Amino acid sequence: MFHDLTISAVHPETDSAVAISFDVPAELAAAFAFEPGQYLTLRASVSGQDIRRSYSIASAPGEPLTVGIKRVDDGAFSTYAQDLKPGDTLQVMQPEGRFVTKGARKIVLIASGSGITPMVSIASDVLDQGGEVTVIYGNKRTDTIMFRDALDGLKDRYLDRFTMIHVLSREPQDVAILNGRITGEKVIALGQAGAIDLIGADGVFLCGPGEMIDDVSAALVAADIPKERIHFERFYQDGEVPRAPKSAAAEAAAASGVAVEVMLDGTRRLFRFEAQDDTVIDAAARQGLELPFSCKGGMCCTCRCKVAEGSAEMAVNYSLEDWELKAGFTLACQARPTSDKLVLDFDAA
Ligand code: FES
Repeated sequence: MFHDLTISAVHPETDSAVAISFDVPAELAAAFAFEPGQYLTLRASVSGQDIRRSYSIASAPGEPLTVGIKRVDDGAFSTYAQDLKPGDTLQVMQPEGRFVTKGARKIVLIASGSGITPMVSIASDVLDQGGEVTVIYGNKRTDTIMFRDALDGLKDRYLDRFTMIHVLSREPQDVAILNGRITGEKVIALGQAGAIDLIGADGVFLCGPGEMIDDVSAALVAADIPKERIHFERFYQDGEVPRAPKSAAAEAAAASGVAVEVMLDGTRRLFRFEAQDDTVIDAAARQGLELPFSCKGGMCCTCRCKVAEGSAEMAVNYSLEDWELKAGFTLACQARPTSDKLVLDFDAA
């Protein structure tokens, strides 16, 4: 559910990134309570288009609710956001997301670019509670580092429990391994050199573009870091997500038309999925029904629902876990029916 929140502060982080803080009125304090690592979905009308994007929360609980927004080329919302000012109002959905520490006390955080945003919140919270944090942060240059003041502040406050490692791709540093992009090979080499403790960490958290996450997590698994200790959150950038074509079964179902029924907030709605529809969310929108969504890229789980009858395939899935797939959950923003009737329950836990 979206709420109107007033912007209380806008802080430029770099030439192309801002931190935006919101006033949360007392009556919405419970709704906007969050766990470090979660994100907010912002919604605005930009050039007549209803646009929503998810941005990670950078603040720790108790601090003003803040997100980091980096401008991406041709990114309608991220460009619009750079001109927001205090006093402006945005529609904001309650915090969501599973990129949370679940009590881990000794953690390694690996981020590139604006992937640092949730890490600032996570690091601050874990350090405040007596934990130990190492951050590996990849950027082009020193002047593209986001939340630098916040990270420096943590270093000053928690000198003995916080390690900050900057990796720069376009500004040479004295230590060779710290030059270039973050790769799996580099992370393992930092572990072997004793700069980070991958084996002893309760959790290794990755946030950034899919390429970095895939490479580093594969290297961690190959180095025998248990999969359940590796957690990641991908960025979503316009046009970045590769989409699988419909299977033959999905093409056939769409060609003859599918009766779709959804349960949402206790109400039953009906619409049809036809050949021109790519996903269930698109089919619903074409017929004037708005289903919950945010990233539309299979990453955020805002559109998660359970297949109660019939069957569906997903174009991509970066967020549902194995147990959810086995239990019949799907992502409506990726779902394409493969049966002639499909019933989706958005109220299922
Ligand atoms: S809207 Fe984000 S996974 Fe579907």
